[in-house]
Parts: sequence; structure tokens; C-alpha cells
Amino acid sequence: MSKQEIIICKDLDDSLSQAVNRCSHDRLFILTDTHTHNLCMPVLSGISALDSAIEITIGAEDVHKNIETLASVWQTLSEKGATRHSLLINLGGGMVTDLGGFAAATFKRGIPYINIPTTLLSMVDAAVGGKTGINFNGLKNEIGAFAPAVYVLLETEFLRTLDSHNFFSGYAEMLKHGLISDYEHLNELLAFDTEHIDYARLKELVARSVQVKEHIVEQDPHEHGIRKALNLGHTVGHAFESLALMENRPVLHGYAVAWGLVCELYLSHVQTGFPREEMRNVVQFVKENYGTFIFDCKQYDTLYGLMQHDKKNTAGVINFTLLHGVGDICLNQTADRETIFETLDFYRECMGC
Ligand code: GLY
Repeated sequence: MSKQEIIICKDLDDSLSQAVNRCSHDRLFILTDTHTHNLCMPVLSGISALDSAIEITIGAEDVHKNIETLASVWQTLSEKGATRHSLLINLGGGMVTDLGGFAAATFKRGIPYINIPTTLLSMVDAAVGGKTGINFNGLKNEIGAFAPAVYVLLETEFLRTLDSHNFFSGYAEMLKHGLISDYEHLNELLAFDTEHIDYARLKELVARSVQVKEHIVEQDPHEHGIRKALNLGHTVGHAFESLALMENRPVLHGYAVAWGLVCELYLSHVQTGFPREEMRNVVQFVKENYGTFIFDCKQYDTLYGLMQHDKKNTAGVINFTLLHGVGDICLNQTADRETIFETLDFYRECMGC
């Protein structure tokens, strides 16, 4: 997989013009959703490198991350004369960068694309690392490809208009990056004043967070080994996310990850010796900022079943990424039913549900 260039923008106009000029192309397309069409396209309006760009706007939110939307993007590319030498810019959150990336990866067997993520979650996770795809058959990201953007342009000014739920959703992935990297980064994340956001400081934290992911992806782009570190918090987190969806009370991905981190740090504590004090610090942060996902012991079997069906598993054995310490990663761990139930007991007790 070719390496993608990640640019922390000082001036989006400048960075985007350079990126577009460096990717030689015959036609230029820009993919937005209804939100980014209204909120973010105006920010790009004076950029002369985009003068000839053809905008394709799709429906917003995960419900549109499907084969019909993908086909509509292929259709417009075709009708508007896109060739193998055309360039696509994805402007949006993870739904736009995932679907747009996959449209680019598959149209005429692949055209180059640039990501401009506009949410914290997409800046620190979805838009970086080359995973693209759509939901299919009720399963998230079931169809997709590893296909990195040529450039990812990070303009943290977009974050000023992000609501607090979407801020914290992205911040959970940053906490995960802190946990799998080093104490210094984890502690600066835990100490960050999330009530009165200093955007210059946030930009530095985002840059560091992306660096953590980039370093891992470079070593293992196709997730055969160390890239699984990025799944910390996600085995239980995905089960919470699916249960919430089944019960018609959907939660944002990052919230499920934050609650999943609480469980998987407890598992790390009992199985791989993660220090109690560090676990407590993270649990406290999650409790204060994410509230609690409420369930009772009658739902343990459902949660266990959901963990068994996670696509990261082989032969029904639940696969966890755990930690021995901050930055000390233990891949391919598992836990039996009893320990998982004990973990859910711990979660309910410490989170007060
Ligand atoms: N979101 C985890 C990864 O990119 O591998």
C-alpha cells in the first residue's frame, strides 16, 4: 500500500492548492454530504484550484453509507466524464471519507483521492490509514478495500463548529491513541480542558494523535499484526454500539469506544497486569465526560454473543487487544465467558448503572 501524506494545514487554501496541483488530473470532483455542502463548502469557495471542480452531494449520516449511495457516486462520475486520471476530493466526516474513498478505489479500478476530514473522529481515525468501505446487509463496513488517499489535509478550524457529542466521540479515539503510545501523550489528553477548548492546543494534540496512528499503519497497513492495536476498546465497544442499535437507542461510535475502553482496561488489569491507578484515571475521565451506557445482567448474554460475532474474530474466539501498560500492547488476547461477565459487572459498578 502506498504511503499517504498527512498535512496539518496552516492555510487550507495553500495546502489544498498544492495537493491538487501535485496530483495531475483531467477532471476534478468533490464529494460532500448535505451537512458539509452547507457548512464546509463555503470555506473552500474562493480556492482557485477548485474552480472547475464538479460537486457531488450525497445524504448525510451512516444510513446513507450504502450500495445505493455508492452507485449514485459512480453514476455521476461516469455521466460527468470522469476517467482513470480524474481526482476526487472527499470533504466530510467518516461516512464521506469511507464511501468516497471506496468509490475512488473502485471507479475504473482506482482513481486518486484526497481526504479533507471535517469531524474530530474522521481527522484522527477514519480519514487516515486507507480503510474505505460501505455498510452492507446490516453489517458495518462489510464491503471495502484498503486504498489510501494520496493526501489527507487536516484543517482543525472545522472543529470550531463541532457539537460537544461529536467532539467527545472523536476524543475517545484520541484517548485510545494515548493508551497505545505513551504516558506523556495519555496524560496530556486526560489533562486537556474539554470545557474551554484551546483550539491551538487541540491542533497539537490532533497532530500527535494522527502521528500515533500513522506510525502503526506504516508498519502494518493490512492489519495482520500491530495495526490490531487500534482495536483497543472496540471489541466491547462494537457490542455496546450494536446493542444500542438493536434497542433503538443508537450511540455515537466514539462513546461506545470510550465505554469499551473502560471494560478492556479492566480486562487488561486482570489478565495482563495493566496498572490499577492508570485504569482509574481513564475510567474517571470517561465517567465524567461520556456518561454511562445503561444495561443490566439480563443483557450479558446478548453482549457476549455480539462480541463472538465481531468480524475481527476467527472461529468464534473473541479477540481482544489488551495492554500490559501504557504503550505496552498485548495483541490477540482472549477471555472466557466468566471473565467477560465479571468485566461487565465491573463496568456497571464503577459507572454507576
Ligand atoms: N480504525 C482502526 C483502523 O484504521 O485500523
